[in-house]
Amino acid sequence: MRKGILMAGGNGSRLLPITRSISKHLLPVYDKPMIFYPLSVLQLAGIQDVLVIAKPEDIVMYQNLLFDASSFGLNLSFAEQEKPRGIADAFSIGQEFLSGDPCALILGDNLFFGKGFRHLLREVNREDGHNYIFSIPSSNPQEYGVVELDPNGAIVSIEEKPAKPKSREVITGLYFFNSDVCELAKSIKPSARGELEITDLLLSYAGNKTLSCVQLGRGFLWMDMGSHANLLEAGFIVKTFQERLGVTIGDYRRG
Ligand code: DAU
Repeated sequence: MRKGILMAGGNGSRLLPITRSISKHLLPVYDKPMIFYPLSVLQLAGIQDVLVIAKPEDIVMYQNLLFDASSFGLNLSFAEQEKPRGIADAFSIGQEFLSGDPCALILGDNLFFGKGFRHLLREVNREDGHNYIFSIPSSNPQEYGVVELDPNGAIVSIEEKPAKPKSREVITGLYFFNSDVCELAKSIKPSARGELEITDLLLSYAGNKTLSCVQLGRGFLWMDMGSHANLLEAGFIVKTFQERLGVTIGDYRRG
């Protein structure tokens, strides 16, 4: 059974001074806290066992906030990340939790919305021996991980925040890994900015050709909510879509 890891640590430095005293993923995005959105993506994929990783001082707030998750089919565990050592740190913190199972990793500030997403996620979730990333075209690829694809959609290169991006396809904060992930993550060394980069882990999978990229395409909405402008924009987007389409976005309590 695939398990989920949700990264809700980090310093939230792009949201200072708000994040001096509150974790970014507790901030409201229109009518719910930010963390509800990525949690509901794991739930959409059919994942029940989820490890939430957060700063030690924030854990109790997430436990209080998500107290009712088990009523909605989610079995939550919590683990501390003392310092933001990077996204790939998830696999040393989460090794015991995963205990050799395949997993999906999602970043706590990511918003996804699009038709057929549940179906897509369930399809990907069935392939538990393979690894997947999800990409989408962006007008500012230099701010993200960037994937270059050949005409058949095979991965040619992966770079973290390149000054000169080789493509406009950015790598979203949702990753599906097979059971090798914890072993592979052990070989990752901190980057120039001192972080265990998720893109370095992806490169080790891409090297052995077991990584595929699912292109979400233009009709899909993806954004990270980690800057002032994006946080505000995400709130308006959620409000607009919910009211106009009569749907609820990103709420694990709706299943
Ligand atoms: O959002 C997608 C992008 O996320 C990818 O395109 C990049 O390849 C990936 O490196 C990442 O880039 P960011 O620079 O945007 O990551 P950020 O440091 O903002 O962290 C993303 C989330 O992960 C955020 O909600 C906090 C959490 N996090 C981050 C780090 C570095 C942790 O929980 N622990 C950490 O150590």
